[in-house]
Amino acid sequence: MSKEHLVIFDTTLRDGEQSPGATMSRAEKLRIAKALEKLRVDVIEAGFAIASQGDFEAVKGIAENVRESTICSLARAMDADIDRAAEAIRPAERPRIHTFIATSPIHMKHKLMMEPDQVVEQAVRSVKRARNHVDDVEFSCEDAGRSDLDFLCRIIEQAIAAGAGTINIPDTVGYAIPEQFGETISRIMNRVPNADKAVFSVHCHNDLGLAVANSLAAVENGARQVECTINGLGERAGNASLEEVVMAVRTRQDHFGVDTRIDTQHIVPASRLVSTITGFPVQPNKAIVGANAFAHESGIHQDGVLKHRETYEIMQAQDVGWHTNSLVLGKHSGRNAFRSRLLELGIQFETETELNEAFTRFKALADLKHEIFDEDLQAIASDTRQTEEDGRFGLVCMQVCSETGVIPRASVTLLMDDKEHKVEAEGSGPVDATFKAIESLVDSGCNLQLYSVNAITSGTDAQGEVTVRLERGGRIVNGVGSDTDIIIASAKAYIEALNLISRGGVRQHPQGADV
Ligand code: KIV
Ligand code: ZN
Repeated sequence: MSKEHLVIFDTTLRDGEQSPGATMSRAEKLRIAKALEKLRVDVIEAGFAIASQGDFEAVKGIAENVRESTICSLARAMDADIDRAAEAIRPAERPRIHTFIATSPIHMKHKLMMEPDQVVEQAVRSVKRARNHVDDVEFSCEDAGRSDLDFLCRIIEQAIAAGAGTINIPDTVGYAIPEQFGETISRIMNRVPNADKAVFSVHCHNDLGLAVANSLAAVENGARQVECTINGLGERAGNASLEEVVMAVRTRQDHFGVDTRIDTQHIVPASRLVSTITGFPVQPNKAIVGANAFAHESGIHQDGVLKHRETYEIMQAQDVGWHTNSLVLGKHSGRNAFRSRLLELGIQFETETELNEAFTRFKALADLKHEIFDEDLQAIASDTRQTEEDGRFGLVCMQVCSETGVIPRASVTLLMDDKEHKVEAEGSGPVDATFKAIESLVDSGCNLQLYSVNAITSGTDAQGEVTVRLERGGRIVNGVGSDTDIIIASAKAYIEALNLISRGGVRQHPQGADV
């Protein structure tokens, strides 16, 4: 039986980036976009082009460099947004503009301060404007989960007539319940007279932990595009997770009767990449990509799996990219092997100097831990890029004293505005002492919201990856640092977070009030 195609629309780089602290640089976004292309994602929502000059350039860079996926930019239903989106995606082989306006009574009245008729008029005008730029236009009814069904049908019919080829029904605030959401999709598709002219899509948020369930209920009822993110990243509690949606429809094809073109073996590497870049760790019990997702603890389970794998396993770990990361490089690997493995991982440095710097780091790491895995290379690439990006602060060297019965003390030499400063402090532990030493010079006024350490690979010689989340004046950033010494990794992460916060910059939020 041939399966219908389910379009996978990844919004890690747009909705995912709306997670507090998940801001990514242009180079990082390009690396993720390359990983998504390798995963064979159909549509990559590369960003919200009008948000800032940086966002515009990131979308444009992805449109120039990714050939296999459709590249999309979000745009509010406003002329300026649509024109800016069109400009950013122009270099793409397959460009798409995704325009949206809120349709729920609460959003129309209190956020847009518009009458329903005005909302329909603006939606139609925007879809037409987008169609003047590109053939592929998607229209979303923001907060559809709380919108009136008659009104939804009316605006959708007109958006399709105006030229939208994809209609997206977002559950913006994660309010929907699977059975009811599935029924809404089916009722809309049955009632809108020109529904057959569009692909119906869903975009579910996870506020009640139901994003994947709601998306799958929509698929059961006719939706043929799911918007999702790697690791379920996204605004607040996140979006439907790509890996869960894809593996659910693949594993239960008998039930859903659809399939995607995702190359599932690249799921785990993509998950790791997004986690490393954003500093959002993946919980061990997360389906598909969590460290425990395929680990069997209890004796009964282990016995069953050893006798016959399918007694307790419904998927194979290697099918989603576990265990494919065998030893890749070692102490004696040369520059060419290093460069080609990076390329295979989608990591390309802009200059030879950056590559040389990364190679020096690789050699230093290989001296310490002998076996270098893909995850180590990802961390080296992130560290190298951070050093190359202009930052106000840098770590020159540090020394920490940690001894039983003695108050821990750190001495840190920092580069601040191109001048070296040596600072010292005591703390409750070596990490606390290090952060206090740095703050004694910088006096950032930031609140530390999160400090977490993860081992990048297994074994006591693994690199530790530290995430530091700082907040100042409502702005939240995540700094990530890695090193075989977790105190040094902590200092690197703290300094990166300080650099991010000092860079500042104002970006527009797409779902703000100013439509
Ligand atoms: O959650 C939402 O409604 C969105 C839209 C902009 C599609 O992210
Ligand atoms: Zn969203």
